[in-house]
Amino acid sequence: MNTRATVLLVDDDADLLRLMTMRLSAAGHTVQAVSSAEAALAHLAVRLPSLVITDVRLPGLDGLALFDELRARHPLLPVILLTAHGSIPDAVEATTRGAHAYLTKPFDGKELLGKIAQALRVNAPGPAPVGGDGDWRREIISRSPRMAEVLAEARLVAATDASVLICGDSGTGKELLARALHRASPRADKPFIAVNCGAIPEALLESELFGHVKGAFTGAQGHRQGLIPAAHGGTVFLDEIGDMPLALQVKLLRVLQERMVRPVGASHAVPIDVRILSATHRDLDLAIIDGSFRKDLYYRLNVVSLSLPTLAERREDIPLLASHFLSRLALKYGRKVNGFAPDAMKALTTASWPGNVRQLHNVVEQVTALATTPLVPLALVQRALRVPSMEVLSYTDARTRFERDYLVGLLKITDGNVADAARLADRNRTEFYRLMQKHGLTPGLFRADASGAE
Ligand SMILES: Nc1ncnc2c1ncn2[C@@H]1O[C@H](COP(=O)(O)OP(=O)(O)OP(=O)(O)O)[C@@H](O)[C@H]1O
Ligand SMILES: [Mg+2]
Repeated sequence: MNTRATVLLVDDDADLLRLMTMRLSAAGHTVQAVSSAEAALAHLAVRLPSLVITDVRLPGLDGLALFDELRARHPLLPVILLTAHGSIPDAVEATTRGAHAYLTKPFDGKELLGKIAQALRVNAPGPAPVGGDGDWRREIISRSPRMAEVLAEARLVAATDASVLICGDSGTGKELLARALHRASPRADKPFIAVNCGAIPEALLESELFGHVKGAFTGAQGHRQGLIPAAHGGTVFLDEIGDMPLALQVKLLRVLQERMVRPVGASHAVPIDVRILSATHRDLDLAIIDGSFRKDLYYRLNVVSLSLPTLAERREDIPLLASHFLSRLALKYGRKVNGFAPDAMKALTTASWPGNVRQLHNVVEQVTALATTPLVPLALVQRALRVPSMEVLSYTDARTRFERDYLVGLLKITDGNVADAARLADRNRTEFYRLMQKHGLTPGLFRADASGAE
């Protein structure tokens, strides 16, 4: 078993932090050292380590409060507490609540490494339930360490029934990960049912999810089984959960709490056994603040969160994905294309990819369809990258955009001098001013000394 871990180390004693970092790094672990619980929480919000080691006594939020927070948010994450003499009883008590272990200062390096190895062993996944190991994630092409971390977490949490919230920008592979997680879970041979909460009209969503009885509402001609009851024994994937209307959020929360579903119009609720995965590309923290998402539901759904990196954050995956898509699509289109010219591949790996893997797939699809040579040339890739996929502007919008870009270009050249810009455009000043006003442009934006002159 691989016992190398990413360790988040929390201690306000700078010397001890340095010492422990050295010890752990020497043993092959990757260490992130922070000096407060607050900093640890900020760090954890970005990335989940494989282990947390925290001092009990900390300024501000203390180590036990940090531990409780972790227990609530990341129940699988092992925590080791470091105690000085006075805080031993607290640490012992924490082990009864799930802390993996505690170490009393001063401790030696060997003791520490031993506890870490043990914690990682406890948390290591058992054998894969389906096929060989790796089979569950066979569709997920990646060699990036960030993805490896996410996949390792997914693999661990798959074995439990914990609700998982998958976050990530559009096209990063949230649904793919949800399917893989289901495949790695003990529910693999039961249904996986995906529901796009944003795509179903509000009026229908409740009966789609929970079902309805005959005559429950106008048009409900027969009994209909809902998607949640249909997934009995398996997994329900609630996609775009951030788009679920508030009224339904309340009902979903009740279903999750009571593990019972009452179809629309029915007098009795029926028990259900489903595992809930959900996904969103929205920032639910913000949605909670603006009141469009319920906090209590958020905590129910987000027992464990997995966060997918954008494609730009894992560029090492681009050549792998591009070649994979190319060979699949060449087969589909019956094209004899077997690779990318080196400069074409370079253009792919350096592009910005706001649409992530989905956009990469679309670009490769376009070049495959247009390729006439065995190696995809740079020009074709450039063309596919430049044409913003799916974007067709109306004539009015295109003209407005052109006009604004034109004015901005002239004002940049003249550092915001309107008279000069007007002269270049062969227009009089008043007329030029009026155009600027129409687009909300002021000369000040372009003066060399102005901040935010972009
Ligand atoms: N690592 C990957 N390996 C292979 N294919 C991938 C990978 N990640 C994503 N894809 C493919 O990219 C496309 C988008 O993935 P998916 O639908 O899972 O993304 P998403 O995050 O759910 O996107 P959206 O937010 O737009 O719903 C799919 O065709 C999927 O098969
Ligand atoms: Mg999706």
